[in-house]
Amino acid sequence: MNYPYILSVESSCDDTAVAVLRGTRVLSNVRSSQLIHAQYGGVVPELASRAHQQNVIITAEKALDEAGIEKGNLDAVGATFGPGLLGSLMVGVHFAKGLSISLGIPLVEVNHLHGHVLSHYIDGEGKPPFPYLCLLISGGHTQIVWVKAYDDMEIIGSTLDDAVGEAFDKAAKTLGLPYPGGVEIDKHAREGDSHKFSFTRPNVDGLNMSFSGFKTQVLYFVQKQTALDPHFVSTNINDLCASIQYTLVGILIDKLKRAIELTGARHVALGGGVAANSAIRAAFEKLPDTHAVNAHLPSMAYTTDNAAMIGIVAYYKYMKQDFAPLNSLPKARWAV
Ligand code: KG4
Ligand code: ZN
Repeated sequence: MNYPYILSVESSCDDTAVAVLRGTRVLSNVRSSQLIHAQYGGVVPELASRAHQQNVIITAEKALDEAGIEKGNLDAVGATFGPGLLGSLMVGVHFAKGLSISLGIPLVEVNHLHGHVLSHYIDGEGKPPFPYLCLLISGGHTQIVWVKAYDDMEIIGSTLDDAVGEAFDKAAKTLGLPYPGGVEIDKHAREGDSHKFSFTRPNVDGLNMSFSGFKTQVLYFVQKQTALDPHFVSTNINDLCASIQYTLVGILIDKLKRAIELTGARHVALGGGVAANSAIRAAFEKLPDTHAVNAHLPSMAYTTDNAAMIGIVAYYKYMKQDFAPLNSLPKARWAV
């Protein structure tokens, strides 16, 4: 079979990423991270759009170069159309439209969340068969998704407020750790005692979750302890991180177990940036000890935002000739 060459662009948040896939195989996966946001402790949308504009062509040229192909070889171009920061999405989408018009190749519209959910299909590794449950955990979303087909997914549980990635990042900010804080918490937690401090878990019905109270709980706790001992955070940083991580992972795994029991799922998968967390990966791998499921972990390279995951969705849509008209617009909000 003559597998198509597809170039894909991801620009929904603070990373400009471009990949080239041949079929499901990744030929290149280039990411240009925007370091500028670290000094503000979070992503500044206007600065993100400007940086995407500066980076997108260079990143695409690098991706083509690493893939060892010319743009004339491309069969289609895919881009993240949402959800995300509108100004950032516009840069990637308009770049993709330009390429589509100039090369006379189809444009494919990709939902960023489908990318996280289908990241397991990249390079054909560890494929979960349909249907499967996906715990989608990122900086913007926290959902339990029932995945019936490449293009048929249903959200069966969701956060009612903050995403779990936000909870990690905000707790890290309270502890004075640099942005993005999730990975910093993970690092410190490795050396800490997860039972040293205890945080309460919110009581939320069914498969839904809530994380906004958690950040306030951490903030008040740290303020109270720091008033008693100004060095409290620095003395206890590893134990604080381990205890925070233990609580957040506990909430996620409990809800996932409940979802397995309710749906009778035989396959479960993780997706999204927080799927890079070592504690959630370890807890997830233990699921088959208590439940009759196969647990599918995404490779680390495809957890945090990347363009290969956009390329895999574009590939499946390309195979169904599901192309976007040139007047389709990026959308800040777009459910799975
Ligand atoms: O999927 P992603 O790259 O972007 C969104 O679509 O939001 O996820 C980013 C989130 C951030 O909140 C970041 O702190 C978190 O993923 N993250 C982690 C780890 N690596 C990234 N959280 C916990 N532990 C990690 N190792
Ligand atoms: Zn993402």
